Amino acid sequence: MSSAADIRVLTTPQELFAAAAEEVVHVTNEAVAERGRFTIALSGGSTPKSLYNLLATNARNALPWDRMYFFWGDERHVPPTHTDSNYRMVDETMLSKVPVPPGNVYRMPTENPDAAAVAEAYEATLRKFFQLQLGQFPKFDLILLGLGPDGHTASLFPGTVGLQEKFRLVIANWVEKLNTHRLTFSLPVINAARHVAFLVSGTDKATVLHSVLEENVLGEQYPAKLVQPADGNLIWLVDRAAASGLSQQK
Ligand code: 6PG
Repeated sequence: MSSAADIRVLTTPQELFAAAAEEVVHVTNEAVAERGRFTIALSGGSTPKSLYNLLATNARNALPWDRMYFFWGDERHVPPTHTDSNYRMVDETMLSKVPVPPGNVYRMPTENPDAAAVAEAYEATLRKFFQLQLGQFPKFDLILLGLGPDGHTASLFPGTVGLQEKFRLVIANWVEKLNTHRLTFSLPVINAARHVAFLVSGTDKATVLHSVLEENVLGEQYPAKLVQPADGNLIWLVDRAAASGLSQQK
């Protein structure tokens, strides 16, 4: 049974990102101590940029970069050099500034114009890295997630086919309103993680955060609600602006 979500409200964005960096350092060092390595699936968009920057600066010396393995929980279907690329964003804000071995970084091969082939290739990468048998899901030490104003997370958007995926690890999810495929982990992969951390900042997320955390909404309409790690723990790291719509300050 998954544990109840842990909701931590930080006063300012700066405190939010500092708390998130502390969480990454804690989970990293725990994973390396217990299993010799740390595996993380990164989120994209704009919110996590400040976290990645902090990890590359203030937390740089607290992290065993050579024991850390980086993946992406979702990606836009654009080349890695494109301004919309989550890989490019993470490389610019963090990876290019730290001593992580290039072989520890597993980006999605989104230069391939065939989105389904990108998903299949990345799924094969996960199966090999985690040495998975058929039917098994990878157990990431940490999966970072954001929350879109429409309740999407990773690239699991409301009403998209990807929400129904129960077997695949990585899917090319057609997102009608964006008129594009988005590459994304399936829900079973997200829910298999040891730790899942949402990072939510800003007043523009207040309404959707209230809906996801406090209203009896359908996961089909608010996919973030479907993130319920089976035996991992779920943390919501939010700033006061994003929490301003919650009924009681946590
Ligand atoms: C992406 C993200 C996506 C993001 C949310 C929130 O590829 O855009 O993975 O799920 O986390 O859209 O984005 P912001 O942090 O930019 O608000």
